[in-house]
Amino acid sequence: MSELDQVTLTAGEKSVALPVLKPTLGNDCVDISKLTKETGLFTYDPGFGATASCKSAITYIDGDKGVLLYRGYPIDQLAAKSSFTEVSYLLMNGELPSSDELSKFEHEVTHHTMMHESLKSFLQGFRHDAHPMAMLAASVASLSAFYHDTLDLNDPEQRRLAAIRLIAKMPTLAAAAHRYTAGQPIRYPRNNLSYVERFLHMMFEVPSEDLELSPVVAKAMDLLFILHADHEQNASTSTVRLVGSTGANPYASVAAGITALWGPAHGGANEAVLKQLAEIGDAKNVAKAVERAKDKNDPFRLMGFGHRVYKNFDPRAKIIREMTHKVLGELGVNDPLLEVAMKLEEAALQDDYFVERKLYPNVDFYSGIIYKALKIPTEMFTVMFAIGRTPGWVAHWLEQQVDPDARIGRPRQIYTGSPSRDYTKG
Ligand code: ACO
Repeated sequence: MSELDQVTLTAGEKSVALPVLKPTLGNDCVDISKLTKETGLFTYDPGFGATASCKSAITYIDGDKGVLLYRGYPIDQLAAKSSFTEVSYLLMNGELPSSDELSKFEHEVTHHTMMHESLKSFLQGFRHDAHPMAMLAASVASLSAFYHDTLDLNDPEQRRLAAIRLIAKMPTLAAAAHRYTAGQPIRYPRNNLSYVERFLHMMFEVPSEDLELSPVVAKAMDLLFILHADHEQNASTSTVRLVGSTGANPYASVAAGITALWGPAHGGANEAVLKQLAEIGDAKNVAKAVERAKDKNDPFRLMGFGHRVYKNFDPRAKIIREMTHKVLGELGVNDPLLEVAMKLEEAALQDDYFVERKLYPNVDFYSGIIYKALKIPTEMFTVMFAIGRTPGWVAHWLEQQVDPDARIGRPRQIYTGSPSRDYTKG
């Protein structure tokens, strides 16, 4: 943190004093909200690399040190000691729950998992080979048509209930999308199971035989959801906030977040990583792939490497890396793609190009390998990310609704088109 309380910007004849805002942790921020009024100038920051869009008390990241805190708690402590439902409560409410509060929360989430029966016919409108992210985004957006009783944004209880519904129904909708494309009957959520077991049951139970749920798989998935639960103002969360800033309902706002997550530069990377590892195919082809990634004339990038904020090892990737070996060992999976992944990681970490640019493996590099070992189909990987990220999205949406500084998000631009000209017939 700097000692500065304000910075002075000189624009020609004018000098303007801009206050410096102090966060609890992290970089000080120059408040430029009065800049345009005082000087007529805009600021330019494509990709928002130096711009804070809001104040938030939910998640803190120090990208240089590889630190990630949810409500102040380090991610490695939560990963070791907490559960996904407890982390969801924490993100939404700001404090860890007492055991009574957690039981009440889990009961409430469990009893909002059903989807309206009409949603089944809605899904049937999709082609049999539709991507589950398309189905998830559409069905989450459609929830606003089913739950009119949680659309009054001025009522805190309705807002809270909408958030619970989103966390509760996301696995049901996700599993239903998978079952539809797999040509299998949709399964109803079972109240006697935990959040993750319920999802696994809806994904994998078939009428012809009983499903034995593996505690190793359930534990690994719970941990993966914890690691994905929030990541401050990433592209999908910022999208939720931008849509939310217009007064749109929470289902529409979160559906927009899902579509933003789908891109391969964001959550879609986990699916892209697996496809890329399969294309590389063998550890002996790794060196060639690294050379291609470095070639500026080739659009090929190493998927699962690099991060806008982390310029050090992504702390989530560190945890998943350890878990990958453990889970594959426990499940007795011997995956040749893992060998390709390890070779790729080793080659990139030693290569000057990646070292100089601080391109480390990110969370998506390993998550795909684990999801594969857990028998999650590749096209469902980004859907898994969406389930995990839902508590983060709703926590940010809830925070935004009561933020006294919140305004509609409306960036400016540098116009580069034609100056004004008169219309003439051609
Ligand atoms: N492979 C090869 N080169 C890369 C990679 C990569 N994966 N990522 C970045 N670079 C290079 C860029 O070409 C650029 O090189 P230059 O300085 O010589 O021009 C430099 O590293 C900086 O990259 P930027 O694109 O400016 O970084 P930015 O912060 O805009 O992008 C991003 C970050 C999108 C994550 C990028 O690293 C990337 O595309 N990675 C692959 C996709 C991926 O794994 N996404 C998941 C992100 S994590 C998440 O969403 C959970």
